[in-house]
Amino acid sequence: MIGYGTKLRDLEKILSIISVKNAGPLSGSMTVSGSKNAVLPLLAATLLCEEECIINEAPDLKDVEIMCAILRSFGAEVCFDKQEKIVRVKAANITTNEAETELVCKMRASIVTMGPILARTGRAKFPLPGGCAIGDRPIDLHLKGFVALGADVEMSEDETGTGSVSAEAKRLSGGEIYLDTPSVGATQNIMMAAVLADGVVIIENAAQEPEVVDLANFLNKMGAKIKGAGTDIIKIEGVTKLRGAVHGVIPDRIEAGTYMLAAAITRGDLTIENALAHHVKPVIAKLRETGAIVTESGDAIRVKADKGILRSTDIKTLPYPGFPTDMQPQFMAYLATVSGPSTILETVFENRFMHIAELNKMRAHIMQKEERRAIVPGGSSLVGADVTATDLRAGAALILAGLAAKGETRVADIYHIERGYEDICGKLRRVGADLTKKQ
Ligand code: EPZ
Repeated sequence: MIGYGTKLRDLEKILSIISVKNAGPLSGSMTVSGSKNAVLPLLAATLLCEEECIINEAPDLKDVEIMCAILRSFGAEVCFDKQEKIVRVKAANITTNEAETELVCKMRASIVTMGPILARTGRAKFPLPGGCAIGDRPIDLHLKGFVALGADVEMSEDETGTGSVSAEAKRLSGGEIYLDTPSVGATQNIMMAAVLADGVVIIENAAQEPEVVDLANFLNKMGAKIKGAGTDIIKIEGVTKLRGAVHGVIPDRIEAGTYMLAAAITRGDLTIENALAHHVKPVIAKLRETGAIVTESGDAIRVKADKGILRSTDIKTLPYPGFPTDMQPQFMAYLATVSGPSTILETVFENRFMHIAELNKMRAHIMQKEERRAIVPGGSSLVGADVTATDLRAGAALILAGLAAKGETRVADIYHIERGYEDICGKLRRVGADLTKKQ
């Protein structure tokens, strides 16, 4: 709501929209940027050593700017060269081990700086991160890990009722942790707490996402001793000190998948450069099941959907290597346009169907059967409408739907989208889309 107290910055957020008009099939090539979900933990890991670290291929995203500000709030020197896509971090001195509430509450992912601060200083105090549109997003598994490493963990509430959690340990020790859910963030946070522990740490039922592997590779460059990243059992042998290192962020597999679907939903022909096919295997498989032609060559993926009738398929989201939950909204938009009904099961987050109501404003006729199951009847001729992005990936799904819809689609609350997609308007315009950002 816009009220007297609305700050200009918030007004800009509320009033900016992306207008999407149907411009027919997209064609040409697009280049994927560095991964948002890889660069954030990589930046957090730079807090673990006094020497300078250099992160290359860093995407120009609002979330990266927020993480840089969080590193500075702990005393690190940070320089983000957006042209060169390089972030230089030198955390020679950690000036506080208490996170700045206003800063960390801007971005849930900031919780992964807790492990490094705890490992580096022996204490970390953070506000409890709130939930978000797609779910409660608890951190119980993160804290279970810190306790298993010998930390005393305490919850508290300040006079305003804001909850916070502190973890304390002179030096973390070895131990074993079983993750009830293969949480990406918990795996990363515990791994970063463990690299300076006195002993061996085993994480069981660990997350296997490529972003976990990318973090382990960077930590090992810094002198850590991590084995098994990418499997469900990760072993970390603690060391006493880490050194600075240089690392290039892996390509963003969700951005790659989103643009693969831009080709499919517009019945176009796009080549997605800087995309690692083995990171998006489930998306490739499901696109092929609908009849799209997907070819992989080196670090490029070509999606041709300009011939024949595209048909339905069923989607069930799972932790990696299953179908990624972060591709569920985008795939739902695409399935609304193919012929025949599809079923979508969302098993990772408890409330990740907020985009159904928005897609139905565009006549997608999607039915949510239970909390986590939706039926997409398919065969819809989408019609442009005024819609709202409820979260990052829902926003991307609405842009995709707008590319295929008749007439104009105006997507509001696009700040969600700008958190995770570098230059999405420019990239899509360069392959023929009619997309404009309006303040
Ligand atoms: C990461 O979030 C990603 N974010 C998410 O991407 C992604 O959807 C998610 O992993 C799953 O792949 C970043 O990497 C910054 P989780 P994360 O902990 O780490 C439950 C996007 O759009 N859980 O793997 O927060 C949790 O409730 C974002 O880019 C606990 O129960 O996800 C959820 O149901 C959205 N206790 C499930 O695990 C915990 O302590 C998966 O969450 C932690 C998590």
